[in-house]
Amino acid sequence: MKKIFQILLIVCVGLAMNSCYYDELQEKVIPELPSDVDILFGTQIQPIFTANCIGCHNTSRNPDLREGFAYSALVPQYVTAGNAAESKLYNQLKDGHQNLATANLSLIKTWINQGAKRN
Ligand code: HEC
Repeated sequence: MKKIFQILLIVCVGLAMNSCYYDELQEKVIPELPSDVDILFGTQIQPIFTANCIGCHNTSRNPDLREGFAYSALVPQYVTAGNAAESKLYNQLKDGHQNLATANLSLIKTWINQGAKRN
């Protein structure tokens, strides 16, 4: 009987260690787009917000991501121009919400690192 518990313990510890290892494998790598391609806020970034965010982020929840309001709500409070890794917006989407397609996250990352222009 004691042996069964020992085996169970070993299996549980093994599973726990394995699950940590698995988490590490799941770490998202968000590719950046080539720097010679300008990402445009108006036609490439805002539509992501309009399609995925404004149901929750409007007058009742910050940041207000509706068209015409999003840029000034984000920069500089949630976006550090030129530094996606330091930007609350990018980190929230990468590690918080996690509901955005990697391609869209890539666009946002590149837009921020290109200076978060209102273009
Ligand atoms: C289903 C509702 C919902 C959707 C859709 C949603 N969010 Fe959020 N968001 C929240 C809630 C609730 C919080 C606050 C709690 C938290 O941090 O998760 C939040 C927090 C945030 C924050 C941090 C706000 C702060 O002041 O700390 C940012 C930035 C953000 N969301 C951006 C986005 C973007 C960009 C999208 C679209 C890609 C999005 N959210 C989609 C509900 C939503």
